[in-house]
Amino acid sequence: MKRLLRTLNGEAVWPPPVWLMRQAGRYLPEYRAVRAGVKDFVALCTTPELAAEVTLQPIRRYGFDAAILFSDILILPWALGHGLEFKEGEGPVLPRLRDEAGVAALDPARVAERVAPVMETVRLVRAGLLSEGFADTALIGFAGAPFTVACYMVEGGGSKDFAAVRGMAYAQPALFQRLMDVLTEATIEYLSAQVAAGAEVLMLFDSWAGVLSPSLFRTHCVAPATRIVAALRQRHPGVPIIGFPRLAGMMAREYATTGVNGIGVDTGSDIASVAALVPPHIAVQGNLDPLALVAGGAAMANETRPILDAMRGRPFIFNLGHGIVPQTPPDHVAALLELVRAG
Ligand code: CP3
Repeated sequence: MKRLLRTLNGEAVWPPPVWLMRQAGRYLPEYRAVRAGVKDFVALCTTPELAAEVTLQPIRRYGFDAAILFSDILILPWALGHGLEFKEGEGPVLPRLRDEAGVAALDPARVAERVAPVMETVRLVRAGLLSEGFADTALIGFAGAPFTVACYMVEGGGSKDFAAVRGMAYAQPALFQRLMDVLTEATIEYLSAQVAAGAEVLMLFDSWAGVLSPSLFRTHCVAPATRIVAALRQRHPGVPIIGFPRLAGMMAREYATTGVNGIGVDTGSDIASVAALVPPHIAVQGNLDPLALVAGGAAMANETRPILDAMRGRPFIFNLGHGIVPQTPPDHVAALLELVRAG
């Protein structure tokens, strides 16, 4: 069995499997070359040959233990018919969903057709991994968790404090729950289709879970993740799921009740403390600071060592605590792999 899959089965594989969030991206010259040839980011995500090519680029360079489908968490709301634009230097811009009409306008019936190119990408990547000799590299499919996707839909993009979405959860709980229900059901279908196309592991990115109060975290992070995991388990019993409730490490004990096989840990959490909150068969993933990778050298080694030392002997996946940043020197990634692979 592939090293990543063994780890997610509860085995303390050592040295640990390693991959990096946003491992395909602007820090790689070969990514920038492909990106320069397309009209916008959504076009890249929905052109299977190009999306598969950029998914494989970091595997060819570094031989990571996992490839992650090249797409974005905002492709699902786009496929539901909500608008999406990536403005240069601004990040994502979406229409603001603030009322009943906004929820009613979402159209789950059109999702399968609009995400068909993503499924073709999954098939191409699985075939490419085999034909290029990466027999031990597992393919991760993913989606944004419903709350994090709702954050971008309600705010209309990123935000400093996500006050609008949190305000809606408190002041219009029935409306917000309807939005969450639509997103939860669509996420199940979207992830299930990725497995049917060849994804071997699934990851649920809840990047803004940490902005919620504990009670809202239970309602809007733990409950939907529990529904998603249960539905996927039933349809695809052998496919492990990693949850990433970012900025909510203190809530890991409750998050573990969702049934996930692995929990992602962000940069600001002490990974040993989070690991102590979850049952020993659940893998922990993380959590080097992406800026330590930019710095490289002794600073990077001094941050990496304690993570490895704390995680030896338990199922663990080495990763960053958040996505790799564009200014990362590619040779620092190679140096990091050497550190991790030395155990
Ligand atoms: O990890 C991977 O390599 C797979 C691809 C992937 C992307 N985004 C590609 C991307 C994944 C898994 C994501 C997840 C994602 N997208 C999250 C969750 C993780 C996190 O970062 O918290 C979120 C919140 C988004 C939404 C998003 N997409 C934002 C806020 C931005 C703009 C910021 C930025 O870095 O540019 C994006 C754009 C985006 N998604 C890029 C990439 C490679 C950069 C776009 C480009 O190349 O022009």
